[in-house]
Amino acid sequence: MPGGTPIHALSGRIVPFVTKVLIDCDPGIDDALALALAAGSPSLEIVGITTVGGNVDLSMTTANALALREFLDLGDVPVTPGSAGALLPQTVRAAHVHGESGLGGAVLPAPVRDVSAGHAVDFIIDALKAAPGEITLIAVGPLTNIALAVRREPRIVEWARDLVIMGGSYTRGNHNPAAEFNMLADPEAAAIVFAAGWTVKQLGLDVTLSAVVTSAVLDRMRPLGRLSELLVPAAQFYGMVTAEGGPAIHDACAVAYVLDPSLFAAVPAVVNVETAGTYTRGMTVTDFKVADRRPNALVTTSLDVKRFWDLVLGAYEGLAARLG
Ligand code: RIB
Ligand code: CA
Repeated sequence: MPGGTPIHALSGRIVPFVTKVLIDCDPGIDDALALALAAGSPSLEIVGITTVGGNVDLSMTTANALALREFLDLGDVPVTPGSAGALLPQTVRAAHVHGESGLGGAVLPAPVRDVSAGHAVDFIIDALKAAPGEITLIAVGPLTNIALAVRREPRIVEWARDLVIMGGSYTRGNHNPAAEFNMLADPEAAAIVFAAGWTVKQLGLDVTLSAVVTSAVLDRMRPLGRLSELLVPAAQFYGMVTAEGGPAIHDACAVAYVLDPSLFAAVPAVVNVETAGTYTRGMTVTDFKVADRRPNALVTTSLDVKRFWDLVLGAYEGLAARLG
């Protein structure tokens, strides 16, 4: 995690610490709001966006990532498509939650530029190899691309500065009582990722369900110019916004964790992903009693909601000033 603001050795200038991030996603309404948070955060440098089939099919998650790159003024950040489906022949989608387009009620201008050549798995490996210890992987969709990258090049576990995921839960699921969507969409991939040897920073439903767009939050999104054309219809499609509650922007929590981990309390744990259970397939079985085992996850357990929204809305306001 960033360790404060370094002073430039020669000029003595304060050089803001910039964290390089590679975002693997399945846009997806909350993926879009996570990308907007990253786009509005000068302390993050997005080195790449990779896409995976998840909320909607890969063709649509990729089209949405391309449209978001241009809408959010992300310049030349490469968008590279990855796995269309899970490691095993199964398809779990969430178009009933995100809409057939994947972006709910938001309609963005069609993208002009296309994807980068190649496959997301190779992009992830090549990016991490070229900058060992520098890039934080943020995965906010099914973990198929990350698992395939680990299998193809196990050293990415050492090369990645960190791995931060939105996924799982140590209490209950959302797609069914046991499993959270990203884990259920590819349990074998999740099992490979949690067993790969890194310490997964896990933003599960236990904290992300607190990141709720209430009417007070939505009111702060409305005056944000062009950006509000994404934020407001997307959030309103994602759930019923009221004074007390609303849709949770799960994926933005993963980006927020990279920006400021102090927003969260977190506990080391040993996490195993159920792949065989009739009723529990995709469940992240979380053991906080680590004993003499090496924890493979740092599991977030609470969120400072007020500070979260101050961070997120501050980033959105800064981005809106840029977008007009
Ligand atoms: O369970 C929430 C997760 O599933 C989020 O990443 C959302 O985008 C969906 O992919
Ligand atoms: Ca997602």
